[in-house]
Amino acid sequence: MGISEVTIPEHDLDPARIPTHVAIIMDGNGRWARAHGHDRSFGHAQGYHTLKEIVFAADALGIKCLTVYGFSSENWRRPQEEVGGLMGLMAYAMQAEIDELVERGIRVRVSGRLDALPKDLQQVFADAMRRTDSFTRITFNLAINYGGRAEVVDAVKQVAARVKSGELNIEDIDEQQISDCMYNPGMPDPDLLIRTAGEMRLSNFLLWETAYSEIYVTQVCWPDFRTDQLILAIQDYQKRVRRFGAVVE
Ligand code: IPE
Ligand code: IPE
Ligand code: MG
Repeated sequence: MGISEVTIPEHDLDPARIPTHVAIIMDGNGRWARAHGHDRSFGHAQGYHTLKEIVFAADALGIKCLTVYGFSSENWRRPQEEVGGLMGLMAYAMQAEIDELVERGIRVRVSGRLDALPKDLQQVFADAMRRTDSFTRITFNLAINYGGRAEVVDAVKQVAARVKSGELNIEDIDEQQISDCMYNPGMPDPDLLIRTAGEMRLSNFLLWETAYSEIYVTQVCWPDFRTDQLILAIQDYQKRVRRFGAVVE
């Protein structure tokens, strides 16, 4: 069975200034569900359909990396039923979509402390990464059991081990060495960070990598964040002046 073409609404984006890496805090599933008279799990299921659309749209728009926050290291604090439901949904969704991801040439990565996830989910993620590892279109990076501070801790442990083994001198530790020990070395930092559902916080997402990301917060809840909303975010991004600390006339 062939794959259908992705339709992108008409837009006036500058193709030369499409962000290379877009990161998204997919928030507001619960509020969206409540507003529509459903339980939270219905909101998460809708969120899955939104994510599918956004991954294919991001690829069609020429974005090279898309990192999405799917489950934070703090989300274990939710009721056990919701956590279990999310784990089940992720396993189901990846299994349901992997053939199409492969057919479209999309590279899948999963970052976070994966060894704490249910074994079946670890297996599904490992298979998805293995099957798509050589692909060079968009990299779709799912942050699961991900915490920005945990990522820094894990990187520091690697650096310390290299110092201990004599491979690295303390004087030679620099930002690049730390970046090289993050979960996705070689992936550029996000140019654009989107948060849906209006909260003005990072919630422990990509603390190291977002040092100079442009931030876009929309009131729209994640289940309603469709391709037209992604285009609006990129339009806004294209109006920004990125100074990186320098003077830009
Ligand atoms: C985001 O939606 C999905 C996850 C964190 C897994 P929420 O579930 O946080 O929705 P709200 O913020 O309660 O509306
Ligand atoms: C951030 O959303 C995590 C994900 C989107 C996966 P939360 O809903 O967990 O964030 P807080 O609790 O409002 O900061
Ligand atoms: Mg939330």
